[in-house]
Amino acid sequence: MASEGTQNGITIKGWVRTKRGSKNVSFIAMNDGSTINNIQVVADNANFDEEVLKRITTGAALRVVGNLIESQGAGQNYEVEAKEILVMGDASTDEYPLQPKRHSLEFLREIAHLRPRTNYFSAVLRIRNAAAYAIHEYFNQKGFVWMHTPIITGSDAEGAGEMFKVTNFDINNAPKTEDGEVDFSQDFFGKATNLTVSGQLEAELGAMALGEVYTFGPTFRAENSNTTRHLAEFWMVEPEVAFNDLDDNMDLAEDFLKYVIKSILEKCGDDLTFLSKRLADEEKVKPAAERSPMELKEKLQFVAENDFERVSYTDAIQILRNSKPNKKKKFQYLINEWGADLQSEHERYLVEKHFKKPVILFDYPANIKAFYMRENEDGKTVRAMDILFPGIGEMVGGSQREERYDVLLNKIKTMGIDEEELSWYLDTRKFGTAPHSGFGLGFERLILFLTGMGNIRDVIPFPRTPGNANF
Ligand code: 4AD
Ligand code: MG
Repeated sequence: MASEGTQNGITIKGWVRTKRGSKNVSFIAMNDGSTINNIQVVADNANFDEEVLKRITTGAALRVVGNLIESQGAGQNYEVEAKEILVMGDASTDEYPLQPKRHSLEFLREIAHLRPRTNYFSAVLRIRNAAAYAIHEYFNQKGFVWMHTPIITGSDAEGAGEMFKVTNFDINNAPKTEDGEVDFSQDFFGKATNLTVSGQLEAELGAMALGEVYTFGPTFRAENSNTTRHLAEFWMVEPEVAFNDLDDNMDLAEDFLKYVIKSILEKCGDDLTFLSKRLADEEKVKPAAERSPMELKEKLQFVAENDFERVSYTDAIQILRNSKPNKKKKFQYLINEWGADLQSEHERYLVEKHFKKPVILFDYPANIKAFYMRENEDGKTVRAMDILFPGIGEMVGGSQREERYDVLLNKIKTMGIDEEELSWYLDTRKFGTAPHSGFGLGFERLILFLTGMGNIRDVIPFPRTPGNANF
């Protein structure tokens, strides 16, 4: 809790979480957002105006001057004996939507501007911050350069066509070409542009000059997936390393994830304990089969201390084909043959039921992956890897990149991608090309894992999803 020492004792500023008491004394739980733990202020009612005491309600902002003393009561070691109380901002009890009770996460989403005032969200936001810090710390310790890749771009890195357009045109009155198409050559950038889906292609240029780089910034996907794992605006971390092959890439990703998880275990103990209790309460009401066998901290520890399982796509298909849910037709999408794209039900089966730990799947069929992945000798698979996590599914997607000019150009052509649009990318393969690899971590998916939260909308301050861009 932020406080200033003065001759008269200490001054604290924060927001009221609860007030209780008797005719003679008031106990005020205050919180300033720096920790999950409140500080208790004790006020002898006789020393304060009745008017002031009335205004001390849940949500009000206070400045309290008093003495820090050892507490007589249970629940805290210290408390503040109030000498002066200033109500800086009232919070009308009739209107303030946050009451000292458990609100549903759905309700809190509707008041996302106020939800950081709850224990739940302040804990998530502190963990989110600590994870971002640990990510920068990890890469900087290793000598990586943080590269700021553009948000506005003309290319579609993933080739999935799920991009938000960026235009300066009056959309009802956009200039047209002779064929009746919108004439983007007259637009702000003189071409069609969109919000980036990934900083990878530019990060590759960085890696081919600086050796080891990473990006960490917002990315955008206009996919209409209303799931608990997808956002239209999310943050991605994308390291890219020259001279790394796919094995090096897997080693880096595993080491990196473990570092961040350990850092959160070390630095966010109180927040994790709080979230862990909330999660345990939720688990109790679930049917036994769906309950997680480990509590939150145990789960983080387990992942930080055990090797991830590395399995080829081909072996994974074999496992899935022979699995009970496949044989009993319990999967929504049955796995019949090699080449099938894995759905989250399959990924979760592998991680949660079969291996019971994070799994790195590698060497996927070329035709279900992006154009830039390095082709294997077999001609049908590419050097791709996905890291799957319990409770989450895909956490990381990455690959060794196709560094051979002819092979890459051929791929771009057969996939019908505009070669002109990627001429700058192809140049890296013309001038001093070298093997290189990288991956993308969905930052919010990591936060889901670290906090045990169930919905990605609850681990970003202001979620953007189909139909929702409030606040
Ligand atoms: O697997 P993806 O699409 O990979 C790439 O974008 C590569 N360019 C990364 C690279 O090699 N540098 O996305 C990477 C990760 C996914 O594994 C997932 O965790 C997350 O980004 N992700 C999303 N997270 C939230 N909402 C969405 N709509 C997401 N789409 C992908
Ligand atoms: Mg992916």
